[in-house]
Amino acid sequence: MQVLVIGAGNMGSAFVKQLSAAGHQVRVTARDAAKAAALAAQYPGVQAVATAGAAQGQDVVVLATGYADAVGALQAVGNLQGKTVVDITNPLTADYMGLTLGHSTSAAEEIAKAVPGANVVKAFNTLFAQVLAQGATLADGTQATVFYAGDDAAAKQTVQTLAASLGFATTDAGGLQNARYLEPLAGLNIYLGYGAGRGTGIAPTWVGK
Ligand SMILES: NC(=O)c1ccc[n+]([C@@H]2O[C@H](COP(=O)([O-])OP(=O)(O)OC[C@H]3O[C@@H](n4cnc5c(N)ncnc54)[C@H](OP(=O)(O)O)[C@@H]3O)[C@@H](O)[C@H]2O)c1
Repeated sequence: MQVLVIGAGNMGSAFVKQLSAAGHQVRVTARDAAKAAALAAQYPGVQAVATAGAAQGQDVVVLATGYADAVGALQAVGNLQGKTVVDITNPLTADYMGLTLGHSTSAAEEIAKAVPGANVVKAFNTLFAQVLAQGATLADGTQATVFYAGDDAAAKQTVQTLAASLGFATTDAGGLQNARYLEPLAGLNIYLGYGAGRGTGIAPTWVGK
């Protein structure tokens, strides 16, 4: 697939690494062009591109900025009509121990409202950047799961295929409204990783049929 990654931070870098390793054609754009260029130079098949028009010709856009920057970053990459946008953001409080919104909406739904025409799929938000960077098989041998939620069936299928191509187990988590569950799930993961001291090599999964 042709994938644009917006953001060259922890998650953006991990996506670029894994997407490149899986043989996707990857573009990366960042606020700081030098950062995007330095990241792209580390992996084969990755191109650093200017923000304006970056979404053109891409199958998937991975939004890897903080939630506060998300809408502006998406609007800056050009026409997203009909494109699959993977929203990985968690709307965290400054101390990372809470969410700034939830229950009656979610970051994913707010982002979708701001970019009408784009097919927003919530996914990957429950994985620590360290897990994404290291790959889908955790230290104890289990396979980490990507939960995905969205309202467009084809976009969800695209995200499922993309996540599977990176080696992850996948769980269809329903419509975009269920991002209201996935974002707090990431909050629990952050608590367990940092608050409870289990570290960043953990990931939530679902067991049983
Ligand atoms: N870190 C994790 O383990 C983790 C796990 C799951 C989900 N997430 C979510 O993933 C998102 C990214 O997290 P992160 O840890 O990767 O954050 P990060 O390291 O701070 O990276 C965010 C990147 O987005 C860039 N950015 C901001 N505005 C932009 C714009 N308009 N256009 C292009 N790039 C822009 C920033 O650029 P500058 O360098 O110029 O500031 C920065 O490089 C967050 O929403 C977070 O909640 C993170």
